[in-house]
Amino acid sequence: MVDIETMRKYLLDEKLNADKILSNFREYGINEVEQVLLLGLDNIRLINRCSKETAEKIYTCARVAYGFNFPEPTPSNLINLEEEYVETPLVKLNKVLGNGFRVGSIIELFGSFASGKTQFLFTQSVLEASKGNYAIFIDTEKTFSVDRLKEIIINRFGEEEVDKILSRILLSTTISYSELEYTIFLLVRTLPKLIKEGKRVRLICIDSLINPYRAEFGSYGLAKLAERQQKLNWALRQLLRIAIIYKLVVLFTNQVVADPASPVNFVPSGGNVVAHASTIRIMLIKAGKNDRVLRIYDAPNIPQVEIDFKITEKGVEDK
Ligand code: GTP
Ligand code: MG
Repeated sequence: MVDIETMRKYLLDEKLNADKILSNFREYGINEVEQVLLLGLDNIRLINRCSKETAEKIYTCARVAYGFNFPEPTPSNLINLEEEYVETPLVKLNKVLGNGFRVGSIIELFGSFASGKTQFLFTQSVLEASKGNYAIFIDTEKTFSVDRLKEIIINRFGEEEVDKILSRILLSTTISYSELEYTIFLLVRTLPKLIKEGKRVRLICIDSLINPYRAEFGSYGLAKLAERQQKLNWALRQLLRIAIIYKLVVLFTNQVVADPASPVNFVPSGGNVVAHASTIRIMLIKAGKNDRVLRIYDAPNIPQVEIDFKITEKGVEDK
C-alpha cells in the first residue's frame, strides 16, 4: 500500500494545496493512494469541494504516486511472467486457464438454478482460505451455509482445519442493491484495514451480483432499465478497479433469462453491461443428479471448451 503522503510532491508540482488536500482525505479515513484511486472523480470532488479539473489533477497525482504511469514498452516475451493466479477447484479448468483465475480479473459464473454456482463459490473460498489467504463472501441470496463449508473443509483438509479456514472466509450479507453498493464502496476501507492486519485478500465472491438489481428494478419493467444498467455498471467497474489495484480475483454469479433463440434456451442476465465487464464468462450446466458441465462461454484467447465436474462432499471437483 502507498501512503497518500507520497502524493504530496506531485500535488505541489501541480501547484495544488497539498496540505489541505491530504488533510481532507485523512478526515475521511483515506490514508492510502489505492483508496484515492477507488474513490472516483465525483467523490474526490465532494471530499475536496473542488472543480472537476482540480479533481482530475488530484486523480492523476494518485495514479503517478501509485506507479500507474504510461508503461514503458516491454518485450512481449516478458509479459505474463509475473502474473499471479488463484487456483480453481477444478484441475482441468486450471490447465485451460493457465494456472487458474488471474488476479486483476473479474469472473462471471452463470447458469440455471442448482447448476452449482453457489457450490463453486463455496469451494473456491475454502481453497483460497486453506492457503492462508482471505476470501470475502458477499451473499445477496441468503444461501450462505456454514455447515456446507464445514463439510467441504472436513472432506478436503480434515476436521482440525475447520476453525482456521472458516475464520479466513469473511461474510457480508446484503439483501438490497443499495446495501450491496454500500458494501462495494466500503471495500475501499475494508481492504486496506485487512492488509494492515496482515490478511491477504485474494478473492471476493458475490452470490449473486444481479439478483438485488433484478428484484428491486424488475417491478418497474422497462421504465427503470437504464437506471438499473447504470448502477450495475458502476458496481462492476468498481469491482474491476478493486481487482486490479488490490491484485485479487472477483468471482460473481449471475442468473439466466429465457431466450428461445439460444441453443440452451437461456442467456445470462444483465445484458451488455455484464457481458463487457467480465474478463471471463463461465456457464454451468446441469447434466445429471450430481454431474455438471462447465463451459468457457467467453474469454480472451481461450477456446470454448467444456469441462465435466461433479458436486460432492468436497464441494465441486473434477469428474
Ligand atoms: P441457484 O442459486 O438456485 O441459482 O443455484 P446454484 O447454481 O447456486 O446451485 P447450487 O450451487 O446451490 O447447487 C445446488 C446443487 O448442489 C443441488 O442440486 C445439490 O445437488 C448440490 N448440493 C447442494 N448442497 C449439497 C451438499 O451439501 N452436498 C452435496 N453432495 N451436494 C449438494
Ligand atoms: Mg446459488
